[in-house]
Amino acid sequence: MKSSIKLIVAGAAIAAGAALAFAAPVAENWENHCTKCHGADGKGQTKAGKKLQVKDYTDAKVQADMKDAEMIKATADGIFDKAGKEKMKAYKDELSAAEIKELVAYIRKFKS
Ligand code: HEC
Repeated sequence: MKSSIKLIVAGAAIAAGAALAFAAPVAENWENHCTKCHGADGKGQTKAGKKLQVKDYTDAKVQADMKDAEMIKATADGIFDKAGKEKMKAYKDELSAAEIKELVAYIRKFKS
């Protein structure tokens, strides 16, 4: 089941890749970089997500408390706790500014 999903994603990536040059489709970026903690559904109910206490991005209140600019900054520069320990890594070296913006829009769509 999981591998067939991956095949579909890979197929879509090839199709979209022709049009988008090197930028990966947002769903693929989400799957590859973010679902480990935030979950495919954005609820953060994964093993790592629970441990790090990531928020439920389907929750309208959680969504309302987040500002787009902060979401972009958090994804680009990472999130650290008060002691400076990394909670979420910085993605600016792996993802372009446009890809990060798309991911923020993608997260907004989890709101129920
Ligand atoms: C190692 C686990 C981990 C991964 C992987 C991860 N995050 Fe996070 N993320 C966190 C934690 C922990 C927080 C802080 C708690 C929260 O806001 O849910 C967070 C918070 C956020 C926030 C909220 C920032 C704010 O303004 O409150 C955004 C947006 C976000 N992550 C986006 C992403 C995106 C996009 C990816 C993939 C490119 C990603 N995260 C990958 C752990 C992770």
